[in-house]
Amino acid sequence: QILILDFGSQYTQLIARRVRELNVYCEIHPYNHLPQLIASTNRSSIKGVILSGSPASVRDADAPTIDLNALRHETPVLGVCYGAQLMAQTSGGEVKPSSIREYGRAKLGTVNDQNPLLHGIDQHSQVWMSHADTIMSVPENFRIIASTDTVRVAAFQIDGEPTYGIQFHPEVTHSLQGKALLKNFVVDICGCSQNWTAESFVESTVAQLKEKLGTDKVVMGLSGGVDSSVAATLIHRAIGTNLYCIFVDNGVLRKDEFGDVLESYKELGLNVKGVDAREQFYGALVGLTDPEAKRKAIGKTFIDVFDHEAHLIEDVSWLGQGTIYPDVIESVSVKGPSATIKSHHNVGGLPDFMKLKVVEPLNTLFKDEVRAVGRTLGLPDTILGRHPFPGPGLAIRILGDITAEKVQILQEVDALFINGLKREGLYDKVWQAGAILLPVQSVGVMGDERTYERVVALRAVTSVDGMTADWAHLPYEFLADISNEIINKVKGVNRVVYDISSKPPATIEWE
Ligand code: XMP
Repeated sequence: QILILDFGSQYTQLIARRVRELNVYCEIHPYNHLPQLIASTNRSSIKGVILSGSPASVRDADAPTIDLNALRHETPVLGVCYGAQLMAQTSGGEVKPSSIREYGRAKLGTVNDQNPLLHGIDQHSQVWMSHADTIMSVPENFRIIASTDTVRVAAFQIDGEPTYGIQFHPEVTHSLQGKALLKNFVVDICGCSQNWTAESFVESTVAQLKEKLGTDKVVMGLSGGVDSSVAATLIHRAIGTNLYCIFVDNGVLRKDEFGDVLESYKELGLNVKGVDAREQFYGALVGLTDPEAKRKAIGKTFIDVFDHEAHLIEDVSWLGQGTIYPDVIESVSVKGPSATIKSHHNVGGLPDFMKLKVVEPLNTLFKDEVRAVGRTLGLPDTILGRHPFPGPGLAIRILGDITAEKVQILQEVDALFINGLKREGLYDKVWQAGAILLPVQSVGVMGDERTYERVVALRAVTSVDGMTADWAHLPYEFLADISNEIINKVKGVNRVVYDISSKPPATIEWE
């Protein structure tokens, strides 16, 4: 594997994705874990190390730093941006603030394409720069292998060892040959074979799960989402009916979702129990209007229901979870978990008192890799291509208190909107979509009658990871048709508005 040492750059995850796209396995670890990693890992399994960029400056007194001596010569190392500056500085070179801060596209001037790192990279190739410091001078044994008009030390190799540094960011797609450069490093220089695929992941993971779980029983909560579905299918491959899945109807799912999803789980052969707990959830939500209070009530009720169901299974010793890699990186990142803006309750959280061991077969995968694994396992597109849906469901899309009647109105509106998007081929073009029931009534006229009814907002966004999002520019004709259809078909609604706020400053959900 390739080890990526994180110094806190916003691009660290991108480096890992690019390496994975080359079908080479890699892991991200905080930079200061290097000594433990070297001590605890079989050295020959670390084929190469990449040092990420960082928001810090190597000139800061408390700048993050590491000692590479245990690796150099034997293991190839590539420093990116801050990583390169750190290597230059700790070897006696000089790093200073650039006279102009450099962000954005730049062209490599001269490229030494005889060098293994730059083999096949064009002269004048476009790269992406993002740095405030620059390497002014390097020690004698550093060979400069590429420069731009403004950055003399754009890439270097230390003589006689497989140690390299680059000032630009090969992981960003604006570095047009960045992937070719990373391939030169991981394949040619580190000697990794490109055999890490979804098929190989399934094969090795199922074998490991068999070994780890043996004849033990596993209980797992399913949400209908991609991650828990793929994780359950993998565990099922390994231990069959010893995996007990629980799918809870919390009363705030989409229209027909409970039945449809349960059916597709059964078709997949999963041993799944559907639990209708709608009344229990409605009971817990009575009178609650504050979004965080609603989230907490739903989270707590879920745990109660899940715990009750899990206790009906004799001798269960494991809890299966659909945790994926970005969740893991977030929790170990050098920056720490980002500030909580909303307390996201993810279905399947482990109640402390259950004392089960946790099995998380997807905790090394990125979302697109989870989908690829799901495809390999034969999961239907209806599951793999689903929009994200929040754990607290429609409860955070009904502003104010929740009643069964409001849920039903919103389910109808949401279904018309989502089916419309699918019918018009727009569903896969947006990242997430849904409807929000507003605590507002407005005047309308239907036939000869004055109406005083509810307003619903439609929300559709484009995004990569949900961290930032733009409102989807849906065609006007589509919005006109859907608005008409909703008002005509859903009793109690006489006005539809479309949300045109981006995130930030708005969020995707209204609560
Ligand atoms: P926001 O509203 O924070 O949403 O822009 C970003 C993504 O997170 C989802 N979301 C949640 N998911 N529990 C969840 O499991 C929650 O409480 C929750 N709140 C928001 C939201 O649907 C979007 O995909």
